[in-house]
Amino acid sequence: MDTRAYLAERRILVDRALDAWLPAADQPPETLHAAMRHLLFPGGKRLRPALAFAAAEAVGAVPERALSAAAAVELVHTYSLVHDDLPCMDDDDERRGRPSVHVAFGEANAVLAGDALLAAAFECLARDEGGSSAGQRLLAARDLSIAAGSLGLVGGQADDLIFDSTETEPARIESVHARKSAALIAASIVCGARLGGADETRIRRLRGCGELAGVAFQIADDVLDAGEDDPCSLVRAVGVEAAARRGEELLGESLQLLEDFGEPAEALRGLLGYALRRSE
Ligand code: IPE
Ligand code: IPE
Ligand code: MG
Ligand code: MG
Repeated sequence: MDTRAYLAERRILVDRALDAWLPAADQPPETLHAAMRHLLFPGGKRLRPALAFAAAEAVGAVPERALSAAAAVELVHTYSLVHDDLPCMDDDDERRGRPSVHVAFGEANAVLAGDALLAAAFECLARDEGGSSAGQRLLAARDLSIAAGSLGLVGGQADDLIFDSTETEPARIESVHARKSAALIAASIVCGARLGGADETRIRRLRGCGELAGVAFQIADDVLDAGEDDPCSLVRAVGVEAAARRGEELLGESLQLLEDFGEPAEALRGLLGYALRRSE
């Protein structure tokens, strides 16, 4: 499986949907709509949409079935980055080599653009697209809202902000990673699989697989950002080598949960390996 080719192919699908489903940049209020699109296009790796598509395929569905979930998870991810970069959060002026949304459009517009991207995520997920049932979409919306909320991404961000830099207990760091990053990674897989018609046994396994691989993904981010002074980094706590070993261990456990899925889960396995071993 050529994971880079898979990402490139699936990017075309999700980008087309996002462009069609979001208000155009010249639709009033223009500044808000342009700000919403600033970080969404050209966007990043589109890893979470690819995971949603690959999860649908892993349970025997065509990838298009997961289209609304793929768009929704990228919108949640994008909103989280817009807010993460704000002066009151990480205060980052650049993202992906371009000015952050608050630098390009002002702080208030960045807050509002993030709010609107999050709302748009659930509008997309509710769409009658790709042949999923209303019941499947409702369960996916519940999964995504829990992952995005105070017990998931937002809760992890809250704990990340107050993280004590003298804390070196790996489990404490991984608890933040599990919520701020892994919850949305797991939800991307679970929502794709739900729209693909997965039964509860498979959903449980896929969720576990996404949670483990999602922590490995954030550890990979710690390794890539090794030189930065981030209090909540496994690299800061245990060093690059031990952190990289822990990432591999988590990936191994994650892949074990996919053992019964056979050949249809090849794309998903490839993406999980890429999430840990990526270079950007
Ligand atoms: C970056 O996520 C933020 C984290 C949760 C670590 P990605 O590495 O998926 O970012 P993009 O979308 O590809 O830029
Ligand atoms: C971003 O985490 C995670 C979320 C937005 C939920 P970081 O702050 O560690 O990631 P970067 O370095 O800004 O991408
Ligand atoms: Mg942050
Ligand atoms: Mg940040």
